[in-house]
Amino acid sequence: MRYNRLLVTGGAGFIGSSFIRCGSHVEKIINYDLLTYASDLRNLASIEDDPRYLFVQGDIRDEALVEKLCIEHEIDAIVHFAAESHVDRSIMGPRAFYETNVGGTIALLEVVRRQRHIHFHHISTDEVYGTLFEEGTFNEDSPYRPNSPYSASKAASDHFVRAYTHTYGLSTTISHCTNNYGPCQNVEKFIPRMIAGCLHREKLPVYGKGINVRDWIFVDDHSEAVWTILEKGERGEVYDIGGECERRNIDLLHLIIDEFSRLVQNDPENLRKLITFVPDRPGHDLRYAIDCTKIKRELGWRPLHDMSSGIRKTISWYLEHSERLVQV
Ligand SMILES: NC(=O)c1ccc[n+]([C@@H]2O[C@H](COP(=O)([O-])OP(=O)(O)OC[C@H]3O[C@@H](n4cnc5c(N)ncnc54)[C@H](O)[C@@H]3O)[C@@H](O)[C@H]2O)c1
Repeated sequence: MRYNRLLVTGGAGFIGSSFIRCGSHVEKIINYDLLTYASDLRNLASIEDDPRYLFVQGDIRDEALVEKLCIEHEIDAIVHFAAESHVDRSIMGPRAFYETNVGGTIALLEVVRRQRHIHFHHISTDEVYGTLFEEGTFNEDSPYRPNSPYSASKAASDHFVRAYTHTYGLSTTISHCTNNYGPCQNVEKFIPRMIAGCLHREKLPVYGKGINVRDWIFVDDHSEAVWTILEKGERGEVYDIGGECERRNIDLLHLIIDEFSRLVQNDPENLRKLITFVPDRPGHDLRYAIDCTKIKRELGWRPLHDMSSGIRKTISWYLEHSERLVQV
């Protein structure tokens, strides 16, 4: 590996924990996480006794603690997942998104500005590009047009990474990924929420008419893409990561109902009756889709899961861990 001693921020969250579980080939991984409501250390239960793994509770805005850990553990790369990540929460209260996603990223960049040998990989989202309509896809050259407080905070953090790279000559990479799904996602997000509804026979709320389109990627495919960028990516470059699985929300829900019913041997029509259309999210982006030609062609990565197999794996996992379908 090019980098062998990593500090991963937000490693107790959904995607960061998948990334750590996929990283058995490095010498050291520090999972640095504040443990907000979105985190769950059970995500790391399978590796918590591995001597190469260390969990430290802390805030990404605590520069002194991050820097101390980097020095003590001879960290050579920071992989930055930690964020406030839920669009609906950002609409209710944007300030926390600014403070964590922008302020937290700047604090980490300041550490790297002093510890210049450390490479910084920034995890961003396709939502910074705004919305698409029926046609077209986003790529690395698409203009920034964030529409929600969440995507605005991620866009601002991307700009700081870019500015620190150009102004101070830091070694950085950025990736923008589409919507992730898979085991260990917080039940506030669409797919686990729908699985919870199917299991508990509760209403299945869908925004608007359910016609919003998202490109879905199985979380471990995203993690492997980030490992690939760390290993082979060009410093200073941006890589877009997509699942090549575009679905309208309503079609995705029908797929979840079909796969759920097959697994529990139920009549799917009983679950379809629970679908309830609710007033749309303010400023709801219509469609996201990523053209991931660059990472496929230049780094040889591609997503391995199709939507049906990924959804089946996800539902099976939640059926075995039904305690995770309750908001704590
Ligand atoms: N979920 C998606 O579909 C998706 C898609 C593209 C990009 N992303 C990006 O991927 C990253 C991870 O997303 P996720 O879905 O795993 O999020 P998540 O909400 O599941 O996890 C976020 C983690 O960050 C931690 N955290 C929050 N504030 C912190 C702070 N101040 N200091 C230290 N730790 C803190 C939380 O405790 C939590 O463990 C985010 O940067 C997000 O913007 C997510």
